[in-house]
Amino acid sequence: MCGIIGYIGPRNATSIILNGLRRLEYRGYDSAGIAVLGARGIHVERAVGKLSNLELRMQNSESARPPLSILNSQFPIPNSPGFSIGIGHTRWATHGGVTENNAHPHLNEAGTIAVIQNGIIENFIELKHELQAEGARFRSETDTEVIPHLVDLYMRSGMSFTRAAFAAIGRLQGSNAVVLMCSQEPDKLIAARLGNAGGIVIGIGPGEKFVASDAPGIVEHTRTVIFLDDGEAAIVQADHLEVRRLNGAPVEKSPHVIAWDPVSAEKGEYRHFMQKEIFEQARAVTDTLRGRVNFETGEVTLENLELRVENGESSFLNSQFSILNFPKRIHTVACGTSKHAGLIGKFLIERIARVPVEVDYGSEYRYRDPLIEAGMVVLGITQSGETADTLAAMSTGRERGAGVWTIVNAIGSQAERMANGVIHMRAGPEIGVCSTKTFVTSIVDQYLLACALAQHAPQASDASGEAQPAASYALARELAHLPGLISQLLAPDPIYEELANRFHDRRHFLFLGRGMNYPIALEGALKLKEISYIHAEGYPAGEMKHGPIALIDETMPVVCVAVKDSVYDKMISQIEQVKARSGIVIAIATEGDDFIQRKADYVITVPPAPELLTPVLTAIPMQRLAYETAVRLGCDVDQPRNLAKSVTVE
Ligand code: G6P
Repeated sequence: MCGIIGYIGPRNATSIILNGLRRLEYRGYDSAGIAVLGARGIHVERAVGKLSNLELRMQNSESARPPLSILNSQFPIPNSPGFSIGIGHTRWATHGGVTENNAHPHLNEAGTIAVIQNGIIENFIELKHELQAEGARFRSETDTEVIPHLVDLYMRSGMSFTRAAFAAIGRLQGSNAVVLMCSQEPDKLIAARLGNAGGIVIGIGPGEKFVASDAPGIVEHTRTVIFLDDGEAAIVQADHLEVRRLNGAPVEKSPHVIAWDPVSAEKGEYRHFMQKEIFEQARAVTDTLRGRVNFETGEVTLENLELRVENGESSFLNSQFSILNFPKRIHTVACGTSKHAGLIGKFLIERIARVPVEVDYGSEYRYRDPLIEAGMVVLGITQSGETADTLAAMSTGRERGAGVWTIVNAIGSQAERMANGVIHMRAGPEIGVCSTKTFVTSIVDQYLLACALAQHAPQASDASGEAQPAASYALARELAHLPGLISQLLAPDPIYEELANRFHDRRHFLFLGRGMNYPIALEGALKLKEISYIHAEGYPAGEMKHGPIALIDETMPVVCVAVKDSVYDKMISQIEQVKARSGIVIAIATEGDDFIQRKADYVITVPPAPELLTPVLTAIPMQRLAYETAVRLGCDVDQPRNLAKSVTVE
C-alpha cells in the first residue's frame, strides 16, 4: 500500500513529509523517496528499504548540499520567507523491481517536475512509446515515469504547469492517485484521484496545506480536510485550495472535520469500516498484484507469491523457485466467506492450471477422513489466519503428508506459521467483522496461483497438454485492468439505496448464480444475513427447481447474477421461471445488456470483463446491497451481533 504525503506552507516540508510517511509505514512498502524544492531546484532523495535508509541518505547529502529550505531561493516563491514545498512516497513495487531508480518521486529529464503516484497506469506502454518517439529518455521501469515526461511535453508546447498536469492526468487510464510539483510554478502542488486505487485527502491549516493518501498521515497537523472524489484534481496552494473536475469544471467541496482519535482518522471519509473496506477494494487489489505480475509479458513470479521453500515431502519449489513437484491435487479448506472464495478458486485453478481442486469446510474436513497423500496440497484460506477449524484442517493435511499452503491476510498469524507455502492477501487491516476486501483479494491470489502453476508447470504437465501456460500469460495480463474495473463499481449509484428502501422489511431473500458466479450467490446471501439479519439463501440457479422455487411469490426478492458469460442463457431461463411465479428479480448484469433490462425488475450493472474475472466484480454489488440494507435497518454494521472477526474456537 503506497503512501503519499505532500506539504506546502511555512514549516519544514522535509520533516512533515518524513513524519507523515512514518505514520503510514504500517501499510507496508519496499522503498521510499522525497522531493523538496531547494535553492537549486527540486532536490530528490530515494532509498530502497526502510524510511531510516532514506533519512540516512538525506543526512549524508545535506552536508554536501545547500539546506532544503528554500530561503533565498532563486525561484519566485510567493510572500513568505521560510516557505517550503515537497512530496514524499513509500513505494510497493508494481512495475519494475525494488530499486532506487524505480522508487518515487520520478522526474522529467530537466528535473523540474516531480511526481508520486499510487495505482496502475493501464495504458503506460502506449504512453511510453509515444513519449520515447518524442525523445523522452526513461530512467526507471515504472509506469509512473510517463507522467513527468508527459507534463514536460505539454509544458514545452506552451501550457502552464497546471494545464499540462490536468492534460497529462486526463490521459491516464486505470485507477490512480497522483501528486505533482514543478519548480517553474513552485507555489502549488497538483493532486488528483482517478478511481479508487488510492485516495487523496487534503488537510487545511492556516496558511498551509497537506496532501496524503490516508488521513492518519496528516491528522496530527490538522483535522479539517477534504477528500477528492474520482475524477477530481486539486490545485493546492498554501493559502488557497481549488478543486476541479479533470475537464476544468470547478467543484464545491465541503470540508470534513475528522475526530482526533486514531479510529476516526483511519475511517476517514466513511461512516463505517465496512463501507471504507468496500470502497478501498481497487486499492487492495492493486496491492495484491504488486510485484507479482509482469503486465507486459503476463508472467507471474513465484518468488513474490512467497511460497516458501522447505525440505521434505511438502516442498514444491527449489531454491531457484522452479517447481519440483507439481501438486497432484489441492484440497482447499476454509470457513465462511473464505470458503466461498475457495469455491471460486476451484474454477480458476482447475480451468487455468488443470489441477483438480476439492473445497471443504474447515469444520468438516478433519472429521470425514479425507483421502490425503503425499504430493498433494491442503490450501487453507483465512483472512485472520487464526480460525480454529481451518487451522485444524490444515494440521490434518500436514499430519497425513500433504504440503500445506495458506492464502492469508494477517501477517505472522498461526496459519502462516504452520504452512510451508504462503500467499498474502495484502488487503491491509480489515476491521469490519464482515469480510469484504479479503474476499476479493483472496480470489485474486488464487487467480495468480492458478496462472503461476500453469506457467511454471514442469515439462511433464505441459506435454500432457493439461496446464494452459499460453492462455495463462494472457489471463495474467488482464489483471492490470482489474483495479480500474473495480473502481467503476464503486461509483456513487442510487440503486443501492433504492433497493434498501424498497426491500429492507422483507424477511427472506434468495440469491441465484451459476458457474463461477454460483459462489457469489452464496456470498451475497451470507453478506446480507450477517449484517442485516434478514434470512437469505444462496443457491446454484439450476437447483432452484428442486426446492427453493416453492418459496417464490410476489413478496420474494431474488438476486440473480446474470452477467454475459458462458452460462448467461441458462441464467435467463431461471429468471423467466422466477418471473413466472411473480418473484421480484434484482439482476446483476453486464453493462449494455438491454435484454435483461426488460426481464428484470431492477438491474445493477457491472462492466464487461473476461469471464474468469467476473466474480471479483459481481461480489461488489452484493456487498453494497447488504451494506445499504443494514444501514437502512440501523444495524451495527461493523460489529454484527453474535459474530467475531476471528473465530478461535471450534
Ligand atoms: C468469521 C468472520 C467471517 C469469516 C470467517 C472465516 O465468521 O466473521 O467474515 O469469513 O470467520 O474467517 P477467516 O479468518 O478464516 O477467513
